[in-house]
Amino acid sequence: MNETTLILAVESSCDETSVSVIKNGTQILSNEVLSQIESHKRFGGVVPEVASRHHVEGITTTIDKALEAAHVTMKEIDAVAVTQGPGLIGALLVGINAAKALAFAHDKPLIPVHHIAGHIYANHLENPLQFPLMALIVSGGHTELIYMKDHLNFEVIGETRDDAVGEAYDKVARTIGLGYPGGPKVDKLAAEGKDSYQFPRVWLDKDSYDFSFSGLKSAVINKLHNLRQKGEAINEADVAASFQNSVVEVLVGKTISACSNYNVKQLVVAGGVASNKGLRAKLAEACDVNHINLAIPSPKLCTDNAAMIGAAGHYLYHAGVSADMTLNGYNSIDIEQCTITN
Ligand code: KG4
Ligand code: ZN
Repeated sequence: MNETTLILAVESSCDETSVSVIKNGTQILSNEVLSQIESHKRFGGVVPEVASRHHVEGITTTIDKALEAAHVTMKEIDAVAVTQGPGLIGALLVGINAAKALAFAHDKPLIPVHHIAGHIYANHLENPLQFPLMALIVSGGHTELIYMKDHLNFEVIGETRDDAVGEAYDKVARTIGLGYPGGPKVDKLAAEGKDSYQFPRVWLDKDSYDFSFSGLKSAVINKLHNLRQKGEAINEADVAASFQNSVVEVLVGKTISACSNYNVKQLVVAGGVASNKGLRAKLAEACDVNHINLAIPSPKLCTDNAAMIGAAGHYLYHAGVSADMTLNGYNSIDIEQCTITN
């Protein structure tokens, strides 16, 4: 039996073209990430058509670089994993077609990976996942609490009813005038301010693990517009700190309560907003007090990358999951449908 598994993974769901080689599900042999941020900056956000074109331009060289950096050839690769969705459809299809071509030409299995499963498995590259676990997903498109009793077993126990947390960050950043990508800029500014504006905390029903951020987002935007209309001074750092405190308090409160009620061994945090300094600090504090084992990937593995797709792809490969050449991309797919029970 071949004791080493090498997965070549491709991720192109949004504005990063990324290819990685992962050994045995945990070891990153290479993780090439070609970011499009500079190109999208002038539009103030990701333009899907522009994103697809950049993926087309970059995908072949990114594959070559990933193989070269890992010092492996396609012959040694066991399977090709690729993000199937959710994401921008045109962007996804570039990665999917490249992965299909590689799998077909080199006669390798093709493994479809759910993008959010990838974000969760980013943790596994640094800290082995310990089951049962609770995953807090905080990205540009998702805010979810997912209970996992084992590998590849996903139960969504709570989700946002409107905006994703990253989306709220980006809109608040735009209204303050910080530009794109907004999340990291609000995070940085928040560190210089204090919670003086007292924005609402939206808890929804007492027993619900669902989230809602659109009311908070509107409260921040309305406050800024009102102050501007009246010609009153705005303390932007305080606005950022007040918004961030409100977001973090609700995220941490609901997550800790979910961890206690589900009696999990580990809390893992995933997605772009997991690199938020305020969230990381408050979660660490709360987990310490509540004796919860916390795992958060280092910032470079929080944002989109193919290494995380390779880590999840490894387990899917060993569970016998594969797709044929009709594999399609989807802008939305339910992660629970990707549950594999052995
Ligand atoms: O997971 P991700 O890279 O892409 C998606 O799958 O959506 O997340 C991107 C989101 C963006 O909304 C970005 O503004 C936000 O993550 N983000 C942050 C921070 N870094 C990235 N939000 C708050 N604080 C940060 N430090
Ligand atoms: Zn993502």
